[in-house]
Amino acid sequence: MWISKTKAELQSHAGNCHRPIILVPTMGALHPGHASLISLAREKAGDNGTVLVSIFVNPIQFDRGSDLESYPRPLDADLEICKQHGADGAFVPDPGEIYYPDRSVTVIESSLSKHLCGATRPGHFDGVCTVVLKLFNLTRCDAAVFGEKDFQQLAIIRRMIRDLDLDVGIIPHPTVRENDGLAMSSRNARLTPEQRVDAPRIRKALIEATGKASPEEIVQAAREIITGSPHARIDYLSLVDAETLLPVDGLSSPCVLACAVFYGDVRLIEHIGISAR
Ligand code: PAJ
Repeated sequence: MWISKTKAELQSHAGNCHRPIILVPTMGALHPGHASLISLAREKAGDNGTVLVSIFVNPIQFDRGSDLESYPRPLDADLEICKQHGADGAFVPDPGEIYYPDRSVTVIESSLSKHLCGATRPGHFDGVCTVVLKLFNLTRCDAAVFGEKDFQQLAIIRRMIRDLDLDVGIIPHPTVRENDGLAMSSRNARLTPEQRVDAPRIRKALIEATGKASPEEIVQAAREIITGSPHARIDYLSLVDAETLLPVDGLSSPCVLACAVFYGDVRLIEHIGISAR
């Protein structure tokens, strides 16, 4: 597996790669969820195609400098995971390699990013779109794998591809979970033992709530189960249209019940799809 730290190195490697080129964008601190995205990319690329993993803690998608600084960066372990799961190349740039000090052009998403996670994180999804577009351009990838765990991110990247006529396919990967149903995340390691035992209730709450008849009952049922815990504090809990991400008042089109829940200062996200009735 080759490793590029600079755009010039990446472009010279990628220029010699066999297509399809499948990109797996990450910020590192890779866990088995990321690993299965890389394996899926390998499967889709076939024996002759190319799997690239980018590992870049993107400064412009963080709203707090302290989060950016404390983001884990276990690079050697990450590269080992990439290699073991069949990556052909890894792109591991420094921020100075990606962003010009006087950069003045960014991607702005002005609709889907106003709700859910975006409501309390202004600029976050613009930072995500900007770096993802740059990674698409630098790697000249044919397709990229994204996790459904970050369902708003996935919806916004699909929208960017549509609105900017990008020629990149999206390969979604289902959320990879621990045995008790908690979605894998590097943040889970920061939960106390009591919080960790309690956290699977978020998913259970969403599953149970989907059995209710009306939007109000669905949201209410999920809220009751989550707030039944002394550890959990809801950041948001919304039933939204699967495409527009706007709150719904009926169930006639596909919807998503999505939430973010704080356990201490650890913020966990979860969602579940509800088909039209
Ligand atoms: P990061 O949080 O490192 O996630 C990289 C990819 O892994 C994303 O597509 C995310 O949805 C996926 N992922 C994380 N945990 C997962 C799980 N438990 N199951 C399935 N997929 C999972 O998302 C980002 O980085 C950044 O915003 C990025 C797109 C790289 C842009 O900087």
